[in-house]
Amino acid sequence: MDNRGKFTSNFGFIMAAVGSAVGLGNLWAFPYKLGANGGFAFLLIYIIMIFLVGFILIIAELAIGRKTKLNPVGAFRALNKKFAFAGWFGIVAAFLILSFYSVLGGWSIKYFFTYIMDIFGKGFGDLSGEAFFNNFISDPVQPLIFTAMFIGIIFFISIAGVEKGIEKSAKIMMPMLFFILVIVIIRSVTLPNAMEGIKFIFKPDFSFLSNGKFGEVIAAALSQMFFSLSLGMGAMITYGSYLKKDANIEKNAILIPLFDTLIAVMAAIAIMPAVFSFNLDPAAGPGLLFVVLREVFASIPFGDIFGAAFFLLVIFAAVTSGVSLLEVVSSYFIDEKKFSRKKSASIVCSTCFALGIPVSLGFGLLKDVKLPQLNGVFVNILDFYDYVGEYVLMTLGAFILCIVVAYVIKPKTIVMEVEANGNVFKSKKYWCFMMKFITPLLVLLTFLTATGILNFQLIL
Ligand code: TRP
Repeated sequence: MDNRGKFTSNFGFIMAAVGSAVGLGNLWAFPYKLGANGGFAFLLIYIIMIFLVGFILIIAELAIGRKTKLNPVGAFRALNKKFAFAGWFGIVAAFLILSFYSVLGGWSIKYFFTYIMDIFGKGFGDLSGEAFFNNFISDPVQPLIFTAMFIGIIFFISIAGVEKGIEKSAKIMMPMLFFILVIVIIRSVTLPNAMEGIKFIFKPDFSFLSNGKFGEVIAAALSQMFFSLSLGMGAMITYGSYLKKDANIEKNAILIPLFDTLIAVMAAIAIMPAVFSFNLDPAAGPGLLFVVLREVFASIPFGDIFGAAFFLLVIFAAVTSGVSLLEVVSSYFIDEKKFSRKKSASIVCSTCFALGIPVSLGFGLLKDVKLPQLNGVFVNILDFYDYVGEYVLMTLGAFILCIVVAYVIKPKTIVMEVEANGNVFKSKKYWCFMMKFITPLLVLLTFLTATGILNFQLIL
C-alpha cells in the first residue's frame, strides 16, 4: 500500500485539489455563463448550489477515497461489489475528458510560444486573430505536436509521484497562476470602457425568477459546478486516497469550492472588461481565449507580454487539471493491475494521445464528421467527447455515488471517516439530510438536463 504515495501537507493537498478544480472550465466557460445567466444573480445561485450539491459531494468523494485508499473502481468495489461499474464510468470519462483537454492544452502551449515570438516580431505575422487560429487548428500535424507536448508535461509530473510530482508542481503553479491573474486583472480593469464588462458580469438580473427560466439557470449553474469542481468521476476519490488521516475533510470541502469560485470570478473580471473595451463578442466560447483575446492583446501596449503571461496561466490551469484526470486512470492501473507508476502513466498517456488525434483532426480533415447527442443534435468530435464524458458519464456517476452513499453504505460510513482522528464534523446533520434527500434529486436533474433528455422549456 505504501508505494501509493501521500500528500505531505494539507496545504499541498489543497493546492493539488484546487489545481484539479481550476481549469479551462473556469477560464472560458464561467465568465460567459455568469454574464449570460443573470450576473450577480447567477453567482448567488451558483454559490447556493455549492452548498446544496458541491460541498456534499466533495465530502463524500474525499471520505470514500481516504477510507478505501483506492482508485475509483477499487473504491466503489470496496464499498459494494455491485457498484464497481460506477468507478468504470469515471475511468472512461477521464479518458475522454483528458483526450480533448490535451488538445486544448496543446493550443494554449502554441499560443504561449506564439506570443513570446511575437515580442520579436515573428509570431502572428499579418494574420488576423481569427485567420491565425483557423489556420493553426485545421492543420493536420501541428496541433498534434503541441498536444503531445501537453501530454508529455503531465506524464513527467505524474511519474515523479504524488509528493514530488503532483503536490510539488501544484504548490508552484497555483500561486503563480493567482499572481499572474492579479496582474492581468489590473491591466484589464484599467482599459477604457472596462466598466461595461464589469456590468455585464455583475449586474444583478433576477428576471429568471418570474419569466419561467428559473429551472434553466439552476441547471446551467449545476452543470458548470460539476465540471469546475472535478466532481462525479472519482478525481476527488483519487486525491482523497492520498490524504492523511488527520486532515480535516469538512474544512477542505469548503476551501476547494471557495478558491475555485474565487478564481472563476477573478477570471471573469480579467477577461470581460477587455472584451467589452474592444467591442468584441463575450459569447465566443473557447474561441474567446484564442481569437477574441488576440484582438485585445494586439492593440494594447506590451500586449505580447500580457498575452504570453496570460497563456502561461492557462497552461498552469490546464496542466494541474490534466494531471488529476491522468491520476484517476493511472491509480486504477497501479492499484488493480499492480503496474508501476511509469507503466500506468505511459499506457494512459499514449491512449489519450491516440484518442486525441480524431479530436484534433475534427477541426481540419475530419471537420465534416458530426456525432449525435441524446437530444438529437449532431456535434463535432471534441464536443462529442465532452458530451459523453462530462454530461453523460460524470453526472450519471455522481448520481450513482449519491445512491450508494445515501442508501447502500449509509451516510454514517462517511460521517465516521470525516470524524476520524477526533475531527469534529460540524455540519453533520445538515450533510446527512442533504445527502439523503436533496442532493440526489439535484444531481438527477443535472443528468437529465445536461444530457438533453429533459428539455426545460417544455416543462416550464
Ligand atoms: N475542473 C476542471 C476545469 O474546470 C476540469 C477537470 C479536471 C475535471 N479534472 C476533472 C472535470 C475531473 C471533471 C472531472 O476545467
